Amino acid sequence: MPSRRQLVVAGCLIFIPFLIWQLVDLNEQYSLSVASFKLWPSTKCSALLAAEGDDTHVVPQKRHRVAVASTFGFHFDVYMSLVWTLERVMGRSPSGGVVEVYAPAEFGFEFQTIVDTLGLYHGENRHSDELIQAINSNMGDGGIDLVVLGTCEFDLRGGPWPEELLAAWDARDAEHKFQLVCIVHNVRDASWQRWITQWSQRNAIRILPISEHVAAAFRRSFLINADSPNATIRLAGYEHIPVDVHVPVLDIPVAVDLDHGPSRILSDAVIQGTFYTDRRDYLEIFAELKESLARDPKVWGYLPLGTEDDASYAVDTTLPDPPFRLFLIGSGWLEIPQELKNMVLIRAGLSYPEFYKLMSEMDICVPAFSVDHGYYDDQASSTFAMAVECNVPILVTERIRNTYTYVDDDRAVVTRPAAMREIEAIRTLRSRDTSYFLHRTGVAMDSPTARVAADMLRHGWVRSPEESRAFKEQIWRANDRVVERILRDL
Ligand SMILES: *[C@@H]1O[C@H](CO)[C@@H](O)[C@H](O)[C@H]1NC(C)=O
Repeated sequence: MPSRRQLVVAGCLIFIPFLIWQLVDLNEQYSLSVASFKLWPSTKCSALLAAEGDDTHVVPQKRHRVAVASTFGFHFDVYMSLVWTLERVMGRSPSGGVVEVYAPAEFGFEFQTIVDTLGLYHGENRHSDELIQAINSNMGDGGIDLVVLGTCEFDLRGGPWPEELLAAWDARDAEHKFQLVCIVHNVRDASWQRWITQWSQRNAIRILPISEHVAAAFRRSFLINADSPNATIRLAGYEHIPVDVHVPVLDIPVAVDLDHGPSRILSDAVIQGTFYTDRRDYLEIFAELKESLARDPKVWGYLPLGTEDDASYAVDTTLPDPPFRLFLIGSGWLEIPQELKNMVLIRAGLSYPEFYKLMSEMDICVPAFSVDHGYYDDQASSTFAMAVECNVPILVTERIRNTYTYVDDDRAVVTRPAAMREIEAIRTLRSRDTSYFLHRTGVAMDSPTARVAADMLRHGWVRSPEESRAFKEQIWRANDRVVERILRDL
C-alpha cells in the first residue's frame, strides 16, 4: 500500500505539469496582444517541452548522431546555424550526441572564419562525397541516426543522393532507421519534391524551413497531397509530415559603440540580396529617390550639381548631419542612375566577415520586395535573419509582419503604413516629420494611416543593443525547442 505521503507526492507530480501547461496556454493567449512576447505559431508544443526541461523520462532523446550535409555551394550560414543549435542542445542533454558536417571541400566566401570565430562547429569538416559511406559504415548502434540536408531543393534535385539515401535507409533493420530532415527555402521549387512521397511512406522525413510562412505553405501543400486522387500519394501519409521552423540567426559580434541616443540621424540604409529587379523593387526605389531628391535635396543631405554633363547630387558639406546613403549589398549587376551615383553604393561579392561587418554598421534594412514576388507566400528571404543577427532594424509593413512572423516584434522592426512607400518612410524618419507625407498625399491627419505613421515616428528606428540581444535570445530559445523536438522524433 502506498503511504499517504507517497500519494501526496504522486499527486503533486501530476498536478505540476498540468499547472505549467495552463501557464503556457495562458501565455499563448496573452501573446496575441503583447507583440513583444509572441513566438511563432507552432511553438506551443515546444514551449511545453521547455517547461519539462531536461526531463528525458517524458520523451527520451532518440537521435544521437547527426549528419548535416550538403553539396550546394551556398547557404552555409543557414545549415551551420542549425549545427550550432544542435551542438548546444546535445551538449547540455544528459544523453548527449554528436554532429558531423559533410560539406563541399571548403566553405566559400570565407565562411570558415565565421565558423571558427563563433564556434558554430567543433567537429571535423568532412567532404559531402563521404556521406553515404559514413551512413552505411555503421548500420547498427552508434550509427548516423539523423541526416539533415542543407538545401533539399538542391541536394535532392539530382545526383546520386536521392537513390543512395533511400537505399541506405532500406538496408537498415527496423531498430536502426535514420530520419531525414530537409531544410527548404521555396515551396514552389518542386523538382525534388517527388522524393517526399517515398520518405513519407517510410514515415522518415521532416521539413525544416527558415521561416513560418514557408512552413505554412508546405503544410498546405501536404494537406492537398494527403487528399490526392492518386492512391499512392494519398496513402503516403503526407498530412503527418512534421514541419518546424529553425531561424538561421547567428550570434554575430556587433559593435556596441554606436550612438544609440534619440538624436542620431538615419543615414545608412541597406537593401540586401541578389540584384534581381523582379525580386526587389530597385528600379522603383531609384525612381522615388530621384524624385524626392529633386524636390528636397537638403533633407537627404545633398546639393544638386546641376551641371550639364553631371546630373548627380553631391554631399552638402555645410549641413551638420551625415548624408543619406543607400547600400546595395549582394551580388550581380545593377545600373545606378547618374543622379544617384554618390548616394547609392554597390557592395557586391563580399566575404562573410566583410558582409557582417558592413551590415552591422547599417541603420535600417529595407526589404524592397516586389509586391507580387513569392517572398510573401512561397519563398523565404534570408534578409530578415541577416538583419536580425546584425542588430539592424527592418522597415516593414503589417503584411510583412504577418508573413515573417518571427520578426513580428517591435524590437526587430520599424512598421510603416503600407500607404507610405519605403523611401517616403525613410524621409519621414530622417526628417522626423510626417506632415510632409500627409500634405503631399492628402491623407487626413486623423486617419488610421496617419496614426500608424505617427507611431512609427514616436517609436523611432533606433533599437538598443539590449533590446536586440533579448530579441535574438528569444529566437535562439525557440530554435533550441525545435531541435529538441527533432532529436526526440516528436
Ligand atoms: C501516382 O503517383 C505515383 C507517385 O508519384 C506515380 O508514380 C504514379 O504514376 C501516379 N499514378 C497515376 C495514375 O498518375
